[in-house]
Amino acid sequence: MSATPQTPPRSLLFLCLGNICRSPLAEGIFLHLADARGLRDRYEVDSCGTGAWHVGERPDARATAVARANGVTLVSVARQLDPRADFDRFQLILPMDRSNRDDLLDAGAPENRVRLVRAFDPTLQAATERELDVPDPYYGGPDGFQRVFDMLMRSCEGLLDHIARDRA
Ligand code: 4NP
Repeated sequence: MSATPQTPPRSLLFLCLGNICRSPLAEGIFLHLADARGLRDRYEVDSCGTGAWHVGERPDARATAVARANGVTLVSVARQLDPRADFDRFQLILPMDRSNRDDLLDAGAPENRVRLVRAFDPTLQAATERELDVPDPYYGGPDGFQRVFDMLMRSCEGLLDHIARDRA
């Protein structure tokens, strides 16, 4: 994965549009998996959205429900991307889809710190970029949230496999 920083990142920011569905799930799943591997203290993890509509809100109830049903606790309170501070603070920024990624780059994110989160899904190594989008479940039903949960579980497992390989 050539675009990731040379040194395995310790600070990770998951990003979506509203920061109430996908990126809080990704953050909660990553922390859950890191905890299971005894690596929780190694990483600084946060999530945010490109939009400001839901700032200060807890995750969408459907995201909280699917997480809880799968043993994952969501910790986030929605906030908007803060380009100046976040591009300084986070070594790896993980947008959920190409639209989030384009907004992030337009806001000035260093390209070599930005990777679509599903690029780390080991079952998608031959996928086209379009197939790497995590679909926005906000306007759909609970099934969409379970599908997104499963995608993010595979992606965060792959991400941890990738960045924790070097245990330095
Ligand atoms: P998210 O989903 O980006 O996964 O948090 C959305 C949540 C809210 C809205 C859009 C997407 N919204 O338009 O309010």
